[in-house]
Amino acid sequence: MAKAKKSKKGELNIRKSMALFSDALKIMPGGVSSNARLWQTAYFCPIYTPCTIFAEKAYGSHIWDVDGNKYIDFRLGFGPIILGHGYPSVTKHVQAEAEKGTIFALDNELELTVAKQVKEMVPCAEMVRFSVTGTEATMHAIRAARAYTGKEVILKFEGHYHGGHDYLLWSTSPPYDTKDRPYQQSMGIPRAIRNLVMVETWNNFESVEKTVKLHHNKIAAIITEPIMGNAAAIMPKPGYLKHLKELCERYNIVLIFDEVKTGFRVSRGGAQELFGVKPHLATFAKSISNGYPISAITGQKEIMELFGPGKHKVTQGGTYASNPLSLTAAEATLSVLKNREVYEQINNYGRRMMKGMRGILKDNKIHSIVQGHPAMFQYIATNNKDVIYNYKELKSNYHADLYAKVQYWLMTQGVLLDEDNQECFYTCLAHSTEKTLKPALDAFEIAVEKALNSKFKMTRFKLEGTAKVVAPKGNVMPSQGV
Ligand SMILES: Cc1ncc(COP(=O)(O)O)c(C=O)c1O
Repeated sequence: MAKAKKSKKGELNIRKSMALFSDALKIMPGGVSSNARLWQTAYFCPIYTPCTIFAEKAYGSHIWDVDGNKYIDFRLGFGPIILGHGYPSVTKHVQAEAEKGTIFALDNELELTVAKQVKEMVPCAEMVRFSVTGTEATMHAIRAARAYTGKEVILKFEGHYHGGHDYLLWSTSPPYDTKDRPYQQSMGIPRAIRNLVMVETWNNFESVEKTVKLHHNKIAAIITEPIMGNAAAIMPKPGYLKHLKELCERYNIVLIFDEVKTGFRVSRGGAQELFGVKPHLATFAKSISNGYPISAITGQKEIMELFGPGKHKVTQGGTYASNPLSLTAAEATLSVLKNREVYEQINNYGRRMMKGMRGILKDNKIHSIVQGHPAMFQYIATNNKDVIYNYKELKSNYHADLYAKVQYWLMTQGVLLDEDNQECFYTCLAHSTEKTLKPALDAFEIAVEKALNSKFKMTRFKLEGTAKVVAPKGNVMPSQGV
């Protein structure tokens, strides 16, 4: 294929990406290996909807696509990158470790080192087990909770995502007006599992209390994202996480914080440190290693010890669990993150981004909210709300079409985001050290103005392909996948 011609600022040349995507569709269902990577709106995808672009490389706070476009990256791989892409000390450790072998199926001293780092940084961490993905971590955590309590139902919240396994892929991104609860988010999940899941509205003190009072004999665990990061960015109401903890203590229920997104991102000790609420179990992944596949399950010794060997114990493990490459990346990452100044720098950058975006949206007379935490936040253009507290409020209020247009124009200005606001703006250390604040805000200002005022001009490429253009109308509801 000919070398890609770099886009001029203001134009988006994604010709090579589209040619590759056309090929990918022929061999990979949907053209991807993870449904969540597909963007749904026609504003971005000139030929196929949904589609994605192809990445070439990423370094620091920037990512390059195969057409030579360079973007300030606010997706950061859906959150793992907390220091910056290819952070030198992490890369150096991984390269050195690779020379020594990649998989042992034996214990490894690094395992102990990282477990100790996690214990030192995370308030609830009395013991630690490692696995590879966030999905595995939540799957094992609920298994331990069931074994510990002898109960089977898991209570989760609408709009919270905990990975792709059958037990929790319910009501992660349902149609906002559905009465179906729990809402089955994928074909192929056994119907019987419906009876093992209860779904509540987040941030509602009364309804969760009522449900727990009625059904506590069946509920093994309450699992929650302590900050919602899969439905824009939604903070817990003051006292809400404490309320969940009290209910769990009262009724012998295991409280699990799924800190796969918040962990080592919103503070050194995750959201549990930020809000001063210690769950019984917590799951971590993403920022623990700045982009290498590793997750951790941690929490109270009494529950964690169930993972040991023996007849009445809980199975957890896997071929790639605690592989040395991911462990060494985690060790190097946590060694940087133990310094609280790193978080001050990331948060300071995020706060200034949030403030700048608020100003730009206001100047353009868009009634909107910029909410969340400086390390993971989102803007929501809404008609009438000043704070969004749960999934339904988010989905019934925000202007999906405007968001998608802004995303398109941001790409033309060298900033990369998703085209719907289920994901957050993620910030990292490199955003601040590489002085990306002004360029990012300048781009946002132009993108918002263009989204409001320009007639949309879509480039159409002449490529062969199998997919049809299906331009979604009105409020786009992308289904979340893995
Ligand atoms: C809160 C949360 N939990 C679990 C997961 C699943 O993690 P993974 O994709 O590593 O399986 C995700 C993924 O985005 C997540 O956001």
